[in-house]
Amino acid sequence: MTQSLAYINNEIVKLEEAKIEALDRGFVFGDGLYEIVAVFVGKFYQLDEHLQRYWNGAQEIMIENAPQPQELKEKAKELLHKSNMKKGIIYFQVTRGAAPRTHHFPAASQPTVFMFAKEASFPDSEKRNKGVKTIIVPDERWKRCHIKSINLLPNCFYKEKARRAGAFEAIQEHDLGITEGTSTNLLAVKDGVIITAPAGPQILNGITRRTVLSLAEEMGVKIEEKFLTREELLNCDEVFITSTINQIIPINQIDNTTSPVNRCDLTFVLQKALEKHIKEYNF
Ligand SMILES: Cc1ncc(COP(=O)(O)O)c(C=O)c1O
Repeated sequence: MTQSLAYINNEIVKLEEAKIEALDRGFVFGDGLYEIVAVFVGKFYQLDEHLQRYWNGAQEIMIENAPQPQELKEKAKELLHKSNMKKGIIYFQVTRGAAPRTHHFPAASQPTVFMFAKEASFPDSEKRNKGVKTIIVPDERWKRCHIKSINLLPNCFYKEKARRAGAFEAIQEHDLGITEGTSTNLLAVKDGVIITAPAGPQILNGITRRTVLSLAEEMGVKIEEKFLTREELLNCDEVFITSTINQIIPINQIDNTTSPVNRCDLTFVLQKALEKHIKEYNF
């Protein structure tokens, strides 16, 4: 049986007993970063890629004394071992730490490291086979969406709008065009070509997105990185979302339209390829 354990500043405790200081800048300002890493057969999948993205974010937002990826890796391994979890996720969060409340960064603060292990069975097979409904919403986020910041209010707001509309995900539309979901990347297929928003400040460059693109490339599928307009998106043959937890889920409805035409030929091929990649991964 998996125990819900958490790692908080050098200690492993029961999740419900994990405590932070009220003046932690993560709590007060959303000043921190997070990652969600999948665990299969009791081992991490693509941990280094996630920790590298965390590290890049920590450099960009200038978290002094941010723990090195290797340090987080060792802590996460210890947490996973003690949790005895075979399948699920490990949530990682690093904030700038507790300090008197002022907007500018404190001269000295010790980053807060928080992790927890959560058993989960994924991906959801019904969603994976039948697809999900989505809505289109405005992309109101800041201009550094490549940073996996814990500051997720716009994402939460529009995920809730989707839920209230009976949809699974909200597709964000920027002035530049379609960017991504609120917690997923969006990829579309038109005439056999995969089209997705370019890796850059407008999207979080998902680890799953990158894996799917490289698997598609290996199969000889052409990839075009560009922002689709809403009209182009509605005219695509297939549309799907990707993320660590969802892997690849087809979209079978966008707003109240009949788009996409609900073909999933390449989507299903990519689902199988990703499944194989996970099975053959060097854990
Ligand atoms: C906005 C956003 N885009 C994309 C993703 C997918 O990223 P990954 O495949 O690394 O899980 C996430 C995951 O949390 C996300 O929050």
